[in-house]
Amino acid sequence: MAKISIIGTGYVGLISGACFSEIGHHVTCVDLDEVKVNNINNKTPPIYEAGLQELLDKNVGVTLFATNDLQDAVLNSDYTFIAVGTPYKGDYIDLTFIKESAKQIGQVLKDKSSHHTVIVKSTVIPKTTSDVVKPIIEKYSQKNIGTDIGLVMNPEFLREGVAIDDFMNPDRVVIGGFDEHSSKLVKSLYDFYFDTDYVLTDTTTAEMIKYSANSLLATLISFSNEIGNLCATVGVDSQEVERGVCLDERFSPFVNNERVFPTSIKYLEAGCGFGGSCFPKDIKALHAFGEKQNLNMQMLNSVININKAQPQQIISILKNKVLNYKNKKNILILGAAFKSNTDDIRESATIPVIEMLLEMKFKISLYDPVAGKNMHKLFKEKIFLEDSLASSIQTNDIVILMTMWDEFFDLPNIINKIKPDIDLIDGRRQIGKNSVKNYFGIGLG
Ligand code: UGA
Repeated sequence: MAKISIIGTGYVGLISGACFSEIGHHVTCVDLDEVKVNNINNKTPPIYEAGLQELLDKNVGVTLFATNDLQDAVLNSDYTFIAVGTPYKGDYIDLTFIKESAKQIGQVLKDKSSHHTVIVKSTVIPKTTSDVVKPIIEKYSQKNIGTDIGLVMNPEFLREGVAIDDFMNPDRVVIGGFDEHSSKLVKSLYDFYFDTDYVLTDTTTAEMIKYSANSLLATLISFSNEIGNLCATVGVDSQEVERGVCLDERFSPFVNNERVFPTSIKYLEAGCGFGGSCFPKDIKALHAFGEKQNLNMQMLNSVININKAQPQQIISILKNKVLNYKNKKNILILGAAFKSNTDDIRESATIPVIEMLLEMKFKISLYDPVAGKNMHKLFKEKIFLEDSLASSIQTNDIVILMTMWDEFFDLPNIINKIKPDIDLIDGRRQIGKNSVKNYFGIGLG
């Protein structure tokens, strides 16, 4: 079993740490934030993620530890993952935390005699590992990367809400090594447990793979949203159009005489836009990086712009389709999280929708099974936080569905029982279009 230290106990750092500890490695998570460190050591997950509580319960104090002592954690491990934040600052990603981590790791490695491998897990723009991290570590450790110290870029492909399952059953592990030896070492952390495809490559290719993967998924979403908006305008249903398109064998091949629909097809459904801590930031960062290389990044520019405009579609449906909408003052928003199974509201499409509705002087109630409190912290007394789905239907005139929580599949039953005349705007096309009387879906004519 390997000894691993992980710098940064944000989403990626903590999930990776908890999963590595579950498979038996000895893991020390490092964070400056004492509250987070104490929470982890007390088995209290600082974030909501399915299965995380169970992993902390089982492994904290056994194979998983948290500390704010970076020096001790690095000295007593053979691998250090850098999993700190890379916030987007207008037209570049801020590498302050990456640089600081590299510096501190370098300072510790100066006094460490055995071989150590540093792994960049954070999402960083191409060439960051080779041109930023490497020279800093070499400067402060006074050692050479490739001989004394290993350096690898190993991006993560975890989806919030199912991150633990994604980690334990990876579709691929990308290992971009500065040298072959460090790639092999990092592969050994994974391949003892996982039967998966490995991409063994260089650091810059690994960085490009991560950005390209997210950019492709975001592009599918913006493409589908643009087509969905057009479908609504010409009076057809985007779901039917999508089905007709996806029955092309190239999207849904026959395997053993049965048609198989890949999960990527999910990204071809029209909706109210993507959010979260990854897509919006990553697409903007790659776009800005491309422009700095003097490329006209037209496709990514459109992906960003389409997504920014998409929440406006909810308002258009309200104005153009809901009868007497001006006399209906109480609106219930269902869903605060940027997607289901998380309490994360970062860049959630619900935020601009609430802002626009408040501007139009509607009274807003919000219900989300997990993330409601976080949205309430943002809007405070401007919105009312509901505590159950059924009770919130009675007091409102219009329902707007923004996040696809499983609980909302029950919406037709509740509406038909309690208030069949209520208007439902479905921003995710989660509910059958004929299941309630006044249904208005995104991408639906
Ligand atoms: C995304 C990628 O899917 C992961 O592979 C990647 O590791 C991660 O970013 C990351 O870079 O860390 P995540 O942001 O958790 O994961 O969520 P997704 O399930 O991909 O959804 C992202 C956004 O797209 C959500 O707002 C979701 O509602 C939206 N979306 C998704 C749509 O609007 N339409 C769809 O059809 C699918």
